Amino acid sequence: MKLPVAILLATLCLHVGDSYRIFVVFPMPGRSHTILGDGVVRHLAAAGHDITYVTPSPKKNVPKNVRQIDVSDNFNHFPTEELNLKRHIEGDTALDISSILGYMLTIHNVTFHNPNVREILVDPNEQFDLVIVEWMFSELYSGFGAILGAPFIWVSTVEPHWMVLQLIDEASSPAFTADIMGSGLPPFSFKERVSQLFTQILIRGIKFFDNSEDKIYSSLAPYFKARGRQQPPLQEIAFNASLMFGNSHVSLGQAMTLPENYKGIGGYHIDSKLPPIPEDLQKVLDNAKHGVIYFSMGSNLKSKDLPDELKKSLLKMFSEIKYTVIWKFEEVLPGVPDNVHIIQWAPQPSILAHPKCVLFITHGGLLSTTETIHYGKPIIGIPVFADQFINVERAVAKGFAKRVDLSMTMADQLKSAINEILQDPKYTTTVKELSFIYHDRPTTPGAELVHWTEHVIKTKGAPHLRSAALAVPFYQKLYLDLLALTVAVLLVIRAVVHRIFKKSSKKEKTQ
Ligand SMILES: *[C@@H]1O[C@H](CO)[C@@H](O)[C@H](O)[C@H]1NC(C)=O
Ligand SMILES: *[C@@H]1O[C@H](CO)[C@@H](O)[C@H](O)[C@H]1NC(C)=O
Repeated sequence: MKLPVAILLATLCLHVGDSYRIFVVFPMPGRSHTILGDGVVRHLAAAGHDITYVTPSPKKNVPKNVRQIDVSDNFNHFPTEELNLKRHIEGDTALDISSILGYMLTIHNVTFHNPNVREILVDPNEQFDLVIVEWMFSELYSGFGAILGAPFIWVSTVEPHWMVLQLIDEASSPAFTADIMGSGLPPFSFKERVSQLFTQILIRGIKFFDNSEDKIYSSLAPYFKARGRQQPPLQEIAFNASLMFGNSHVSLGQAMTLPENYKGIGGYHIDSKLPPIPEDLQKVLDNAKHGVIYFSMGSNLKSKDLPDELKKSLLKMFSEIKYTVIWKFEEVLPGVPDNVHIIQWAPQPSILAHPKCVLFITHGGLLSTTETIHYGKPIIGIPVFADQFINVERAVAKGFAKRVDLSMTMADQLKSAINEILQDPKYTTTVKELSFIYHDRPTTPGAELVHWTEHVIKTKGAPHLRSAALAVPFYQKLYLDLLALTVAVLLVIRAVVHRIFKKSSKKEKTQ
């Protein structure tokens, strides 16, 4: 008798704090995507909600209220070759937009049909109050909301751009907002402005003519059936999100008009607790006389793919500078100079937070760029793929970065960039100012995430936040109907005038 009572009480207690069941989907097989998904789950679980988390990288120790759905199979469907640094140095980086879209669709397809995911989707006992899904170049994941019969929230992992904004409001203008895949920042030159427009048209064209998205969506029919739901058209649910979380903040990007249901919560992935620093690394940091340069190309791109020649020239260059260098590198290197410390694993936030750290050499991924502003450290960006180019370009334009291109001869450029940044205080001053703007918010990004998530659930999908623009077709926005009407009226007037004129001239003739 006692045990059931205890269970009953425990259940009641949970419900007092309004514990919701939330389905979180971050299935991209890549470290940075996992970090963003983990961040969402960490905040929501800490707020007491029951989380079901679709992830390619399940963790060992998760709180009791987090259930992980393993989609690690997704790693078998992603072209890791594309991430190979060596290929980029050799200039073989041809990943065009069309193949990127193709890879993304494959991940969507295999995620939906993963047996672990299927098990939940077909079970009508699995009920959820909300779905949170990562947007990755397709609207297919809106299907999770429709299948589970719950409102859903998109998470956009980069600065707001036209492809995601059109889902909750309208596409931002290519005349003054940058596409994530391109380069160039507003104000655009004529050529750049045309190229931005062209990118929008090209991507719309590819999506319009490629029917694999529809095919995958049709293959979801059994899920709808299992739950006794009609399958709505993809076009209807794709634009039906309640909210969009953006991994963005004005300190990192550019000020722009955003709809009410876009919430920029850039930086939410950064845990307020710094990971511990191993003792020997702590000593290196504490004892660095001239400051520490932290060098890491992230977790996807392995520095061991660098050609030997390049490794040697980098080590030689580092030996010629007075600063201490901490290089995150996956292999043991011969002939490492005294001021260089190779570490296989790096507690990156803790290194960046250390007062002795003066510079970060990075690929310019958005998470790393966010962390540099969070901790106020200038960077040298060596962009390799995807949004890294535009991130580095933004950082340079904001004045806290220099860009160096990946090449066999980059050591010299890297050296002069290091010297310039560390000898001219303006880079550090600028990044400290941005760091102030970044931190000066009414509340932390994590608290905002929890607040808006609960708001959507409490208001049953937050229809009051939706933009009226979604209901207006393209031709009405451009007043093409008015234009057509005006032209028609003018034509009629012309015809009437013409006829009257003809008649009167005929009369004149006959007189
Ligand atoms: C759109 O979202 C609302 C609120 O979440 C929901 O009630 C409605 O059923 C959704 N429409 C479709 C077609 O899924
Ligand atoms: C989706 O995956 C299934 C296997 O699960 C495969 O048969 C199908 O061709 C895939 N569809 C697309 C469009 O890639």
